[in-house]
Amino acid sequence: MPHWHKRYPQDDDIAINPLYARGGESRVPRFQLARHGVLPETAYQIVHDELALDGNARLNLATFVGTWMEPEARRLYAEAADKNMIDKDEYPQTAAIEDRCIRILANLWNAPDAHAALGVSTTGSSEACMLGGLVLKRRWQAQRRTHGKSTDRPNIVFSSAVQVVWEKFANYFEVEPRYVDVTPESPHLTAEGVLQAVDDHTIGVVPVLGVTYTGVYEPVAAIARALDDLQERTGLDIPMHVDAASGGFIAPFLQPDLLWDFRIDRVYSVNASGHKYGLVFPGLGWALWRSVDVVPKELIFEVSYLGGNMPTFALNFSRPGAQVLLQYYNFLRLGYEGYQEVQKTCQTVSQMLAESIGRMEPFELLSNGSDIPVFAWKMKADQHRNWDLHDLSHVMRERGWQVPAYPLPPKMDDILIMRVVVRNSFSMDLANLFLDDMKRAVTYLDGLNGPYPHPDETRQAFHH
Ligand SMILES: Cc1ncc(COP(=O)(O)O)c(C=O)c1O
Repeated sequence: MPHWHKRYPQDDDIAINPLYARGGESRVPRFQLARHGVLPETAYQIVHDELALDGNARLNLATFVGTWMEPEARRLYAEAADKNMIDKDEYPQTAAIEDRCIRILANLWNAPDAHAALGVSTTGSSEACMLGGLVLKRRWQAQRRTHGKSTDRPNIVFSSAVQVVWEKFANYFEVEPRYVDVTPESPHLTAEGVLQAVDDHTIGVVPVLGVTYTGVYEPVAAIARALDDLQERTGLDIPMHVDAASGGFIAPFLQPDLLWDFRIDRVYSVNASGHKYGLVFPGLGWALWRSVDVVPKELIFEVSYLGGNMPTFALNFSRPGAQVLLQYYNFLRLGYEGYQEVQKTCQTVSQMLAESIGRMEPFELLSNGSDIPVFAWKMKADQHRNWDLHDLSHVMRERGWQVPAYPLPPKMDDILIMRVVVRNSFSMDLANLFLDDMKRAVTYLDGLNGPYPHPDETRQAFHH
């Protein structure tokens, strides 16, 4: 074992500060259940203190997931923390509110008949994507069987920049993933790439509305047109699931004319994360199908032992109901214009930041925050500096900013990028402070042996 992993016997215990040990305890075992418990205040203090080492969620520019809700929403969250979403017979109003959210989303995503759409709330987009993929697979199998054809070797098509959930789906549900490689010239899925990848074993095509690496939208409508054309030429009818994990709560407000949703007949299903730009705390996703008819009946279970007879389509059984109530709270609280205003503010901040970073000498933008409020950049190829984006990420961390640096997908993975996700609550003021810190960090890294400049010095140097 390397020496830095050496464990000392006392590591197995957590020492309790005497001031906290209100019941007189001095240690609790770290890896075993203690024989006796401690007082609530002591338990609280131990957990609370350990969390002090976690990053500050508001300065976490890596996550897409909600880190801020207003006090009334927090109050509702605490009041509803005991609701199990699956207990629909016991909590009929929580169930009714879930259904109302689904109808609101079906309208927002232009379902032909919002009341005929099928929808479910999930733990996040991952579960929603799994369900979307599963429906595509079962539909394909059923159709192949009807025509007496083999159901071997199903495949699913997406870009190599797809989020890991689709690799998981392919692996867990035994579907061949067909990646259309992204390239510097075409950094997202294209209609031509899709046409080269599909065949009669393709269960579906998954464009992403807001690629995780860069935030750019994949061209859903152009891909749909190419598939329409393919159907006309060959009879092959390939459905689409749109992974709108982030974009599902952005495009309806910032790009309402963009065609990506149920206005396109070929879009059978859509997922989005309530806990991303839906503005809810972690633990909520949504999956919607354009109509109940596109979901094979065998996937829907009738559960009767909770009191009523209830159809369920989900991977989990028990799941918190509070996040669904928070989603409805946001729908009521913000309305269309409120969401639009919040998302517009994020977009303005992200475009300002992108433009400023794009003007900094070492960097080149890969996206500018005009699709979802997310942008990414890399070092210019001609920069010969003695530091890279990992170093920049470390220096930014010293001031509390969490900005990840990571390689692009396979075949472009020699390129290191940095990405900022602008979320509600990342104000213009914070953004300007972030920019100051970026400039100081670059100055520091350029002259690595010099002292780290004082905030006031850089402010003078960079503010013009
Ligand atoms: C495009 C995309 N799909 C799916 C996911 C997974 O979503 P979740 O974290 O809600 O499970 C993400 C998460 O970042 C994503 O960006």
